[in-house]
This record gives sequence, structure tokens and C-alpha cells, in this order.
Amino acid sequence: MQIKNICCIGAGYVGGPTMAVIALKCPQIKVTVVDANKEKIKSWNGPLKSLPVYEPGLMEVVKEARGRNLFFSEDIAGNIENSEMIFMAVNTPTKKEGDGAGMAADLSFVESCAKDIAKFSRSDKIVIEKSTLPVRTAEKIKEILKENSKNIHFEILSNPEFLAEGTAINDLFKSNRVLIGGDDTKTGKKAIKKLVEIYSNWIPKEKILTTNVWSSELAKLASNAMLAQRISSINSLSALCQKTGANIGELSIAIGSDQRIGPHFLQPSVGFGGSCFQKDILNLVYLCKNYGLNEVAEYWHQVIKINNHQRDRFARKIIKHFDENLKGKKIAILGWAFKERTNDSRESSSIYICKKLLKNGAELFIHDPNLSFEKVIEDIDQHRFSNDELVKDVNPLDFNKISEYNLEGIVLMNNEHLYLNFDWKKLDLDNILFFDGRNGLKDHEIPNHICL
Ligand code: UDX
Ligand code: ADP
Repeated sequence: MQIKNICCIGAGYVGGPTMAVIALKCPQIKVTVVDANKEKIKSWNGPLKSLPVYEPGLMEVVKEARGRNLFFSEDIAGNIENSEMIFMAVNTPTKKEGDGAGMAADLSFVESCAKDIAKFSRSDKIVIEKSTLPVRTAEKIKEILKENSKNIHFEILSNPEFLAEGTAINDLFKSNRVLIGGDDTKTGKKAIKKLVEIYSNWIPKEKILTTNVWSSELAKLASNAMLAQRISSINSLSALCQKTGANIGELSIAIGSDQRIGPHFLQPSVGFGGSCFQKDILNLVYLCKNYGLNEVAEYWHQVIKINNHQRDRFARKIIKHFDENLKGKKIAILGWAFKERTNDSRESSSIYICKKLLKNGAELFIHDPNLSFEKVIEDIDQHRFSNDELVKDVNPLDFNKISEYNLEGIVLMNNEHLYLNFDWKKLDLDNILFFDGRNGLKDHEIPNHICL
């Protein structure tokens, strides 16, 4: 089987950028991304400035490949039928109800996607799990494919995504590793080879690791858990610094200078956010519990608990500095996305911290250069406090006019360039408390600068 057509189901943060790069690097292959959300497909086909995903460098890649060998289409059935290789890049949020609610992954999108693949396939296919899935999901996908199709062979591979939002294109261009898990059978090995060939168009062979399916699935959860653990470790120490007079920035440099530890993922923060870390750790915890490994489950769960504690602690710090009374206090929130250079606000610490500030009576003015105020309101709504009438105290902030709001507090939530490069001396900050949730402005001369 020669791979001439690739179909990717799911045009989100993973599917969109990943397929754009595959198309760019493999001009001989036609890559079509489909999605159940027609609006999303429309905007992928629309003006480059308003693609559904904001990611530095993405626009340029789409510009070059779109219409050449990269297509975005509403036709799920036709594109499944016409492709030899199918990527599943649908969302796998944490389950909201039923068994494992609040912890296990909701696989309903993956299941419905597998049913579509079974229904519309007329020839053998290689099916690739791209979304982060709990270990042993491949088995479930296999069952669904088998039950819903006749005389068609599906080979399932796991090829987890390690890109980080904000640097996705660069991560895809220069991946430090590509992981491909497949069955140790003749057909399994053949399928692995096909996918290795695709990545070999731009990734050096030694960086493409092949494993069995379960190792590949678990490696994704474990990598994210380890990264998140480092952030929770440094954040837990920031709490201790506050009590002892040690400086977390200095501590972070001192620890990170040990080559065995290294400097990455040791930046203290308002707590990690994003669609992966919390979800993947909860998945890992759930998996351990299922196997009766309660101590192991508890060990990893603690990473999340410290993250929640860090968010709480930061909100408490703000409230305390205003003498426990935020009533009528005008506070600017800089950064709504879970980190800089992305328009993704899933699990952003801003949501949780703002919720606390609003409950304490604050009037918030929110800014983020990469996402709209409508998205902020949608997030607040989804976190179910619109009924509490708290949303009435949420306003947009025009950053160019920040001096005109009579602010009493400014809170830095992410390290967006705009904020780090702003000449803060231009503002009269003498009567404003400046809470730096990233210690990002520690080199600026800011009076009343309250760091982590
Ligand atoms: C992560 C993984 O990095 C990536 O490999 C995986 O495939 C998907 O999940 P992502 O969620 O996009 O990527 O962002 P990442 O850069 O890892 O940051 C996650 C969160 O941790 C952000 O909120 C970030 O601000 C925070 N963070 C990161 C810190 O608080 N301190 C740090 O030192 C690093
Ligand atoms: P991720 O960060 O994992 O890429 P997103 O939510 O950004 O998550 O993207 C997942 C996409 O998958 C969404 O655009 C959603 O509409 C799409 N999707 C989910 N289920 C299906 C399905 N069964 N068929 C087609 N598209 C789907």
C-alpha cells in the first residue's frame, strides 16, 4: 500500500498544525483535514489572519500548502474512503459525568470517530491515534472498527503529539523525538514503516522511536506528568520561599544549574494550565487506581493538588494585599490564555484566579492580545458563575489606554511579549499594586511589585 492520501479527523490545535506541517514537508501526499464543526472548516479555508488556531509560523505554512496538497473539508465520509492513512485528532476532555467523572478521559469523540472510520472505509487503512488517549484505548478502537466493518483490515498505531502550543510549528519542524507505537506483527511492522517514512521526510531517523502501542500511549501521559511535576515542585518551593525570605528566582537558577536537573520547566507561575497537563495526570491517576495502585495514584494526584493550591495562594495573596476587601476595586488582568503566544484558554489559571477575585467583589478589566473578549465571557460562563451575576463585573481592557482605567491593581498572568516589553515607566504606578504571577517583570523598576 502506498500512502498517497492522508485524512485527519479533527481540525483543532493538534490536527490543524500537525497536518499543515506534514503537507508542507510531504508535497507528494494529499493531506485533508476534516471536522464535524463546519464553521471551523470554513475558517481554516478563510483568510489567513483568522485561522481557528493562533500559532506563530502557522499562517506561513498554511499559505504555502493550502490548495496545493493541504485541504480542509466538511466531507468526512468521502475523505475517509479515499485515504490510506487516517489520523484521529479529536478532543478527549475529562469526563463530566458517569464512571470516572472528573478524572477519566471522555472517549465519546474518539468512539464516534472510530465508528465513522468503520462505516465509510471500503479498503484497508492505517489508523493513527494522535489525540492523547488513556493507555489501552487502541484496543477499544480496534474492537469498534471490527464490530462495525466487514472484511477490512485496520492497523492501529499510536503516534502521540508532543508539540507545545505557542511553539507548535517549531516543535513539529524540529521534534526532539517522534514516537510511533504499533503491534509486533507483520502488518503492524509494515504500518510502522509507512509512518516512519512520512516523518523521515524531515526528521532524522535516530529521532524516530518505535515501541509497542501501550508504551507509546503511556509515554505521552508520563512525559506530561513529569513536566507538570517539575512545575508543581518549583511552585511548592515558591510557597516556602515566601515564608523564609529565600528568593524563588535565585533558587530556580541554583537548582537548574545542576546539569542532572537542567533549567527547563522550573519557572514558578500562577499554576500550569492548558489542555494536556491536568487531563493527562488525571488520566494517569485513574489508570493507577484501576490497577489498584493507590499509592502511585496519590503520588501523581499531588501534582494537581499543588497546582490548585498555587492558584489559590496567588488569589489569596491579592485579596490579602487589599485588606481582604476587593469591593469596587478596579483590577487589570493581563493574559487570559494559559500561556503566551496562543489563543487557547483551556484550563487557564486566569479563569480560576479571576473567579476568586470576582467572588470577593473585584471589578476586572481583562486583556489578552490573542483572544477576544467574547471568549473570556464564554469561559466564565462555562465555569458556571454567570448566574451569580459575577459576569457583570467583567470588562474588556484596551491595553493602549491602560492608564485611563483608574486601576488599583494589575495582575500579570502570562508572559506575553507585549507585557514584558512594555515600558512600564510610562505609567504612574505609585498607587497601583502590581502582582506578577510569572516573575516576568522582575528586571523592570516597578514600585509595589509583588512577585511569586
Ligand atoms: C504540553 C507539553 O509541553 C507538550 O509536550 C505536550 O504534548 C502537550 O502539553 P502545552 O500544554 O502546550 O504543552 O504547554 P507547555 O509549554 O508545556 O506549558 C504548560 C503550562 O505550564 C503553561 O501554563 C505554562 O505557562 C506552564 N509552565 C511551563 C510553568 O508554569 N512553568 C514552566 O517552567 C513551564
Ligand atoms: P486538540 O487540542 O486535541 O486538537 P480541539 O478541541 O482543538 O482539541 O480539536 C478537536 C477537534 O475535533 C474539534 O474541532 C472537534 O470539532 C473535532 N471532532 C470531535 N469529534 C469529532 C468527530 N467524531 N468527527 C469529526 N470531528 C470531530
